[in-house]
Amino acid sequence: MADLRLPALRWAEPPEGPVLVLLDQTRLPAEEAELVCTDVPGLVAAIQSLAVRGAPLLGIAGAYGVALAAVRGYDVTEAARQLAEARPTAVNLAYGVGRARDAYRSAGGDGAAAARAALAEARALHREDAQGSERMAGAGLGLLSELLPGGGYRLLTHCNTGALISGAHGTAFAVVRAAHLAGELRRLWVDETRPLLQGARLTAYEAAREGMPYAVLPDAAAGSLFAAGEVDAVLIGADRIAADGSVANKIGSYPLAVLAKHHGVPFIVVAPVSTVDLATRDGAAIQIEHRPGQEVTEVRPGVPVAPVGAQAYNPAFDVTPPELVTAIVTERGVVAPVDHGNLTNVCSETRSS
Ligand code: MRU
Repeated sequence: MADLRLPALRWAEPPEGPVLVLLDQTRLPAEEAELVCTDVPGLVAAIQSLAVRGAPLLGIAGAYGVALAAVRGYDVTEAARQLAEARPTAVNLAYGVGRARDAYRSAGGDGAAAARAALAEARALHREDAQGSERMAGAGLGLLSELLPGGGYRLLTHCNTGALISGAHGTAFAVVRAAHLAGELRRLWVDETRPLLQGARLTAYEAAREGMPYAVLPDAAAGSLFAAGEVDAVLIGADRIAADGSVANKIGSYPLAVLAKHHGVPFIVVAPVSTVDLATRDGAAIQIEHRPGQEVTEVRPGVPVAPVGAQAYNPAFDVTPPELVTAIVTERGVVAPVDHGNLTNVCSETRSS
């Protein structure tokens, strides 16, 4: 039961007109339900509610969103702007939107041929993501075998980085899956990932479907797990990697990097090159999304866990400085040590944007 029963996202062309169909991630794991987007405002709302989420999938969704606007005859420039601005931190969103918009413009910027070009570009990005995922899985497994020659890995992950965010098996989770298929995964530790529980709800769902040995832990329990010597490596994804190698990822990633450094455990980031943003100078320049306080003060909508009117601090991401990152695994190979020169080299190979 390796793959998702329903894909994270698919393009469909029913008689009423083309649509983008999403697996609604807000309803997992209780329910596998699809959400049909017929227009760009619907897709923007799905992005903002996290029905569709995770950096690589946001890029793919954004590209299909531009195609949707084009084939339905909406204003493509305005649609691209709304989509690119739907969430600020994951650079893949603007990257995917930009690719489909540029393909549309290069094909004349109007009419059926331009719309077909936008859709073809979205499909190309979707395929590239799947191929990149396979390559990252291989490169990441190779790195694990170098760093941890004893095998039998106990890996800790945070947030969700598997098939739910990808055209194939994702980023960090694809490496975990490769280790599992190689018989080398002793334990996957799944951070629950407060406040929206992407770890408990989504990564555990994927791990269960893959038949992995896994356990969910409260984020605050990671420290005691390191102290007990129960973590061999941390594997996470990324939403944006700045030119100096700073990594923005789900809130709670940075504390794991500090713990990993203290305990001498490798901290590995797995992300496609499209997540590297050389135009963002350093970690301080990465725009961090702040989300509604109710996500913290309510355990689910309408169920409070704090006094009525409590203020909340709810950044969706944090930034890990490059000196805490052992390596970044990309589809073009492993970046280590993580610095501007090595990142620039991996990005300067031919890139299709
Ligand atoms: O807010 P989300 O759920 O979109 O955040 C997702 C993450 O932080 C993922 O870890 C990140 O996008 C990497 S996915 C390969």
